[in-house]
Amino acid sequence: MHIFKEHKNEYIKTINQKLINNLRTSGLIKKNDDVLDFGCGIGIWDSEKSTSVFFHDLYLYDENIENLEFCKKKYPHYNILNNLNDNLHVNVIFVNSVIQYINTNDLEKLFDKFASILKNDGIVIISDIPKYSRILEYGLTFFSNFNLFKIQTRQLLSKSYRKTHYYLHSFDELIMLSQKKFTYSKNKNLDINSNRYSVLFKKK
Ligand SMILES: C[S@@+](CC[C@H](N)C(=O)[O-])C[C@H]1O[C@@H](n2cnc3c(N)ncnc32)[C@H](O)[C@@H]1O
Repeated sequence: MHIFKEHKNEYIKTINQKLINNLRTSGLIKKNDDVLDFGCGIGIWDSEKSTSVFFHDLYLYDENIENLEFCKKKYPHYNILNNLNDNLHVNVIFVNSVIQYINTNDLEKLFDKFASILKNDGIVIISDIPKYSRILEYGLTFFSNFNLFKIQTRQLLSKSYRKTHYYLHSFDELIMLSQKKFTYSKNKNLDINSNRYSVLFKKK
């Protein structure tokens, strides 16, 4: 899947910083934790390691090779993964703005995969989950956040983005798909976008 690259956009930089700051202050990630950013895209983390680290180590994975190549240059001090092999074990898996591109069957399998990657007491933080269909959200964003509306307009004008499948996953569906391996709680509010929500899962 091709993602819409806006790495120079100042507004996106600001919202990414806010999100990372929300994560930092949430206390969900501890200083000794290893973190996997699943579906990392071109990276929302600060590229200056020294100023931004509130975890032990960071692993970035995406199915899109182009994004991984971008991240290798942006984050030479972190671990960029071409695949999720059985040797990887982390405390936290962070999944931001990704599950709307994954269908229900694959998502159920993904929860199993996450459980195998997580250490005991590990958590999955899934954030930026759309509450509404893409077109309804687009309309609502016009009123709630005009900067974001402009970005979504550029996305919708991009043919490759329009062709991407987009799946709405309700809170109840996520609970059902994850229940074999996880308990859940509604997350502290991490989301910058009021049309999105987040859920915290704890490994059973
Ligand atoms: C909208 S971007 C979000 C990127 C990043 N997490 C962020 O918040 O900016 C969605 C990303 O999910 C990745 N993705 C979608 N399905 C995936 C899958 N099954 N496995 C890994 N990455 C996936 C895409 O390649 C893309 O980079």
